[in-house]
Amino acid sequence: MRLQGKTALITGAARGIGLEFARAYIAEGATVALADVNSAAVTHAAESLGPQAHPIVMDVTDQASIEAGFAEAVRRMGQLDILINNAALFSAAPIVEISRKDYDKLFAVNVAGTLFCTQAAARHMIPRGTGTIINMASQAGRRGEGLVAVYCATKAAVISLTQSAGLDLIKHGINVNAIAPGVVDGEHWDGVDAFFAKYENKAAGQKKREVGQAVPFGRMGTAADLTGMAIFLATPEAKYIVAQCFGVDGGNWMA
Ligand SMILES: NC(=O)c1ccc[n+]([C@@H]2O[C@H](COP(=O)([O-])OP(=O)(O)OC[C@H]3O[C@@H](n4cnc5c(N)ncnc54)[C@H](O)[C@@H]3O)[C@@H](O)[C@H]2O)c1
Repeated sequence: MRLQGKTALITGAARGIGLEFARAYIAEGATVALADVNSAAVTHAAESLGPQAHPIVMDVTDQASIEAGFAEAVRRMGQLDILINNAALFSAAPIVEISRKDYDKLFAVNVAGTLFCTQAAARHMIPRGTGTIINMASQAGRRGEGLVAVYCATKAAVISLTQSAGLDLIKHGINVNAIAPGVVDGEHWDGVDAFFAKYENKAAGQKKREVGQAVPFGRMGTAADLTGMAIFLATPEAKYIVAQCFGVDGGNWMA
């Protein structure tokens, strides 16, 4: 029960890694607001986790929705100790095929969403002089990929925002850090697999098998592989850790 009595808001928590983080936080004693733009899915997800889970319908690209969502979460939970900026979109295309629409959409969710949710959380945390903010970065933010320019750029921006926000907010007792996963199996990667099937002429599921085999650990990650770091960063043991980005990727980026 390392998070007993703590309250957390997790964006993009209707499925995948965000949902697994919510499950793990509740198992450690926390109360969690699951915030997602997908209303039906987030309601179902929160119901599956029981009374410690609160569904919040929130679009991280919409300022009014962010403000209403954080106010609702604080009203329901009493306060806000932890924010996990987890919501994100993925897309892939060769440079000459990238559309302005895709670029704007990915930066709106992955970068502006992270910044303005951080701002909303900080406004609740600063008066209390304590808080934890965890940003979901990616190995994709640490190097380019030929077909994944926009997503990689958004995740590089998330790492940069983690550094700046980490340096600015620590004087208020707020720790900002990031987790950089490698390849994590789930619905997100089913979508990634479909992009590679299209652009690299692969059969469905082939790219997934190839990336899994290439991970030094020997397989793709699971959402559950990431929960240990997400819990640790929210405990008092992590209080001296500021503005860092931690790879949790089975050795994938190093390789
Ligand atoms: N799965 C991987 O291999 C992998 C690897 C590295 C990093 N990551 C990062 O981890 C995080 C979670 O990944 P995942 O695999 O669980 O993704 P996912 O696609 O399964 O889930 C993302 C969630 O975000 C929500 N969302 C999308 N737009 C939103 C918006 N505007 N407002 C609120 N919610 C919105 C979606 O409805 C969805 O529930 C993301 O930041 C992702 O970039 C994932």
